[in-house]
Amino acid sequence: MFLAKRISDLRAFQKQHPGTWGLVPTMGALHEGHLSLVKRARDENNFVAVSVYVNPTQFAGGGDFDKYPRTLERDMDLMKPFQVDLVFAPSNEEMYPPNFQTYVTVEEITKPLEGAMRPGHFRGVATIVTKLFNIVQPDRAYFGQKDAQQVAVIQQMVRDLNLPVEIVVGETMREADGLAMSSRNVYLSAEDRNAAPILYRALCAARDAYLRGERDGASLRPVMREVLEQEPRANVEYVSAADPLTLQELDEIKNGVLLSMAVRFGTTRLIDNLLL
Ligand code: PAJ
Repeated sequence: MFLAKRISDLRAFQKQHPGTWGLVPTMGALHEGHLSLVKRARDENNFVAVSVYVNPTQFAGGGDFDKYPRTLERDMDLMKPFQVDLVFAPSNEEMYPPNFQTYVTVEEITKPLEGAMRPGHFRGVATIVTKLFNIVQPDRAYFGQKDAQQVAVIQQMVRDLNLPVEIVVGETMREADGLAMSSRNVYLSAEDRNAAPILYRALCAARDAYLRGERDGASLRPVMREVLEQEPRANVEYVSAADPLTLQELDEIKNGVLLSMAVRFGTTRLIDNLLL
């Protein structure tokens, strides 16, 4: 496993390793969700690169960037069993040198849901992912369904800009009680951690209604909200039943639906979704 902190080191290593490359972009603090993507990349490519970079441009102010967990040594230990070839862990100066001034903006699909709650977030994501694609030039790149809008934004960007990379989407990994794995789960107090599986229960309640034949988005959203409201620790930011491609809220569901939600427990913000 080669650790490259500089783009020039990464390029030199890749030159010595011709073949297909899979890239798993991460911000570190790895868990089973990330590792399921690494495993898939390992199965499908000659070489695997994992980037570990907490990207400042996708965070709003308020200290979330500063307090994001940074655990590179532990992350590298977790990757070892998966025979990762290359870890790219650049500095901020390497990724955003002085006088940096070019950003990638994806328009409509970044406006609802997470985009509405986190202005500028997807501009930061689209910019860093474009840079990582240009730096690593992977044949395939691996993203988790956990961040459903991120997947939709990146797929849109890849189509619009003709980026020569195949986007592979891995299913959401969950704890035994249904809580979607997330680097942010460590911030939950014991009480909030106990309450947090309510997100998945709310999604499952709406899924069950859908499977019983409910096809009205305006009926599915209250199903989720009512379950969440049973938990006093949960502060609902949004619940959504949206078109999986455009992310616009749906009334009549014809071609599938993305159920999603953002819920705060204290200062910790959790998101989850189910694609039906
Ligand atoms: P990060 O939150 O570290 O997530 C890295 C990848 O792991 C993302 O594609 C995310 O969807 C996936 N992932 C997270 N939790 C998961 C889970 N429980 N099951 C399956 N996959 C999961 O997402 C980012 O970093 C950043 O925005 C990034 C794309 C790296 C750009 O900075």
